Order: sequence, then C-alpha cells, then structure tokens
Amino acid sequence: MINTFAPGKLYIAGEYAVVEPGYPAIIVAVNKFITVYLKETFDKGSIDSFDRIIYWNREKDSIILDGEDNGFSYIVSAIEIAEEYVKEKGKKLDFYHIEVDSELKSEEGRKYGLGSSAAIVVATVKAILKYYNIKATEMEIFKLAALANINVNPKGSCGDIAASTFGGWLVYKTFYKDWVLKEKEKNSITDLLKKDWPGLYIDRLNPPKDLKLVVGWTGSPANTINLVNSMEDSSLNKESIYDEFLTNSKKCVIKMIKAFKEEDIEEIQKQILVNRELLYNLGGNLGIRIETSQLKKLCNIALKHGGAAKSSGAGGGDCGIAIFKKGDNLKKLIEEWGKANIYYLPLKVYDGKEE
Ligand code: PMV
Ligand code: MG
Repeated sequence: MINTFAPGKLYIAGEYAVVEPGYPAIIVAVNKFITVYLKETFDKGSIDSFDRIIYWNREKDSIILDGEDNGFSYIVSAIEIAEEYVKEKGKKLDFYHIEVDSELKSEEGRKYGLGSSAAIVVATVKAILKYYNIKATEMEIFKLAALANINVNPKGSCGDIAASTFGGWLVYKTFYKDWVLKEKEKNSITDLLKKDWPGLYIDRLNPPKDLKLVVGWTGSPANTINLVNSMEDSSLNKESIYDEFLTNSKKCVIKMIKAFKEEDIEEIQKQILVNRELLYNLGGNLGIRIETSQLKKLCNIALKHGGAAKSSGAGGGDCGIAIFKKGDNLKKLIEEWGKANIYYLPLKVYDGKEE
C-alpha cells in the first residue's frame, strides 16, 4: 500500500486578481492534510472519497467510471494526467484502489474551504508517481497537478496547487493557460514539464518571526467556482473598475511582500486591511458577497483585539485570516469569535518539514 499526503492552504492576499497572469498572491500551506492511499487491484479500479465509492475501468486513454462522476472529477483528472506521464516513461498501467482521507472538513463533514480539491489532486499525482517509481521534482509535481486542475477548473489560478505542492508561505503568479494548453497539444507531457511556463512565478516568503497567523471559520462552505464565474460572466471584467481592482491588488500585494522582507508586521497588517477593502468593493461591484456578514464579524472582532483580518480565497463563507503579533492576547479574541459563531481553527503553517 502506498500513501501520500498534501496540505490544505489559505489565501493571505491577492485572491481574484491572481487568476490573471502577472498579478501576485500570497498563499500559505496549513497543517491539515489530504492523504491518499493506493493499492493494486486486478480487473477493476475503485475510488473511495468523501464516504462514496465508485468503480472504474479503462477505455483507450480514459478512465471510465461506473456511475456518476459527481465529486470524482478532480481525482480522475489527476489519475489521467499522471498516467499519461507514466506511459511516456514506458510503463504499463495497472488498476488500483484509491482511498482519500481528508482532515480538511469538520467532524460533521462540512468543508473548511482549505483547498481540498487541490490537495486531492496533488496527493493523487504523488501517489501514482510513487506507485510507478517515478521521481519528480516539486515543480514537476506542480505542473502535473496544475494540468489536472485546469481540466476541471479552467478558470482557477492554481495557487492552491502551488501551496499544496511546495508548502510554507509563497508568492504566486499564475501561468498563461492558453500557452500551456496549446503546447500540450504539440508536446509530450515530459517535454511540457521541461519548459518554462510563461507567467508562472513561485517563490518562498519568510514570515517575520513575530507574526502570528490566526484562522477563523464561518461554518458555511462556499462555492469558489460559482464565485469566480460570477466575475468572469460579469461585464465588469471589460470595465475600468476591474483594471483598477487588478492594479490596486498588485500594488497592495507588492507592498505586503516588501513588508514581509523587512519584517514590518504593522505594514503587513495595514496592507491586509487595504486588500480587505479592495475585495469588499469588488464583491459590491459584482453584486456578490465576498465578505459575508459572518466574515465581517470575524474581521471586526479581530480588529478590536489588535489584529488585521480579511476574507480568504473566494470568500462567500469558508475562512477568514487574521494577522497578529506574537504575544497579543488571543484568548479574548477566540472567546468573542465563539460568541459570534466563528470557530477558531488552531492551524499552523505547514512548511513541508513536519506533519
Ligand atoms: O476560496 P478559495 O480558497 O478556493 O480561493 C479562491 C481564490 C480565487 O483567487 C478567487 C480563485 C483562484 O483560482 O485563484
Ligand atoms: Mg473558499
């Protein structure tokens, strides 16, 4: 039996703008994981994920599911891309049973919004490569997982894939998807992995040693794809308001990165609040609630206790993040969040070195 794991993630700043090449985001991996178990079977494969099991067979180059693919599309896409790569290495494909175990949900099974789809894709790619004894660098794993991810979620930035692959704090800029998709038609996956992908930028960021990341969960799961679609579908992205949002988000994230390098926590907090407002206004212009009333409470309570907070990722529920200085008294914050039905999640940053 093989097992592999990949961490969940949280957006710190730059979300929405990061779907466009050239616009940076800060993302962090957290110490909650998706684990994938894989073992060989003989005449049929199966996938056991989120309490559902489905069987599969092969037909030419595709995986054919024995039933609705509802909820299995990311994992199937990850298997298909990783296997395409495996075949290029001259290996013969087997059948396997794949089981997914998630810590990215509450005891009642509600998702926290910590990027479970991305972590499933990354952990599945890693499991298939491990099964066939294929060594890959983190960048190769990222690229394979990104190809699998954009098959299912073509509008996604793949920032979550980067966080799940590399761990730690990252600055991320997305790649030109059209270029990648065109090159994929002309090249083997092996060759595509060797190329530099235009636009793609992934760099580690060291947090100031006194910075404390605090995470609150609203208890209501949000649908990222729907939220991002409402931006794509809106006429807003043809208007100057959208360009202004992009420019301001970029300015803000660049200032935040500089403040990380200078260990200036107050400036980081200031830029968190700038980004909060940019996202709040973007939601207003799109007619969607990025900062829901629960997220607003989460942020305002954090502010009252000396932190700077904002929605994280697409918003509309899920989690909010708050930046504090170590030594700040968080007991009162957690108590007050509790009274407002905001659940404190005792997460730590996962830097790839310890579980
Ligand atoms: O809600 P999350 O954590 O899945 O984040 C979505 C972030 C967006 O920038 C809105 C979309 C994306 O693909 O980057
Ligand atoms: Mg979300």
